[in-house]
Amino acid sequence: MAWFDDHARPLPWRTQTVSPWESLLAEIILQQTRIETGIPYWERIRTAYPNPAVLAADTEENLLLLWQGCGYYARARNLYKLAQELEGKPLPKTYDALLKLPGIGPYTAAAVASISHNQPVACVDGNIRRVISRFRAKHMTDSQLQKEASVLLNTTRPGDWNQALMDLGSQICTPRNPKCNQCPIEDNCMATKSEDATEWPMRRSTKQKQIQAAALVIGGEQGMRLEAREGRTLGGLWGVPYAEGKAAIQQLLNGREVKEIGQLRHDFSHKKLHVTVYSANPSVSDELREPESVPLSTLDRKILELFKVHQSEES
Ligand code: ADE
Repeated sequence: MAWFDDHARPLPWRTQTVSPWESLLAEIILQQTRIETGIPYWERIRTAYPNPAVLAADTEENLLLLWQGCGYYARARNLYKLAQELEGKPLPKTYDALLKLPGIGPYTAAAVASISHNQPVACVDGNIRRVISRFRAKHMTDSQLQKEASVLLNTTRPGDWNQALMDLGSQICTPRNPKCNQCPIEDNCMATKSEDATEWPMRRSTKQKQIQAAALVIGGEQGMRLEAREGRTLGGLWGVPYAEGKAAIQQLLNGREVKEIGQLRHDFSHKKLHVTVYSANPSVSDELREPESVPLSTLDRKILELFKVHQSEES
């Protein structure tokens, strides 16, 4: 706690008083988005939606417009559901009640309950997992980690404690080259006594599938054909006609006179895409929209950027 009091990062939700709702927005965003990237999104979203009732009264698409580029869009769809489920009531305060809401898992419930309501619940995110498994020099399952975190928790200042471990993990006990000589808990850490502190925690294998995909840009200055995306990854967003896998790609390109204009790569946490981008002239049945008017994913922005560059090279 003394280390945190001296070294806490001056993050915007620490240097000013924020509501539990704003704290929830920060935790949802930061769980899967880097702090530097996440802060501007947090500022934008909390300004547009100062409480859940304001969000519930708006559309999901408007939330996605603010969320575009931040990734993991299921978070935004769940947040919208959560706001609707509250029906104007404020967020609940306890860990158990928070956990029942859409999109709130053990980490987020514990973070909000401890940070905003001083409830003595320990949270475990990637940083805390690393700190604790190194501190004990032990490979642990998720439930063992949760237990260990609860044992270590400072119950007088649970919110600060949880955030101190997050900061320790991101500033000192880093994945590679941890700064053990600057660490406030080095004396009791079992990993520093070993040859290689980075032996813990066990790497989680993230097998990303390699996927061939095709995107078809129809239109241009006058507007583009855009479709509502479906599915877990990009559902709720819009994008150019797009297909993954040989058969679907053939179907996408069939019956149009298309021109290959380039290729790009895009990674999601679970798949690596190799996208070939094509263009075609619109037919009378293509409804054209202004891309800036709808929420787009970063993948679609890359596709449109490639198209723009290709067009300026052609002219
Ligand atoms: N990452 C996610 N939430 C955080 C918080 N409250 N402080 C520091 N890092 C975080």
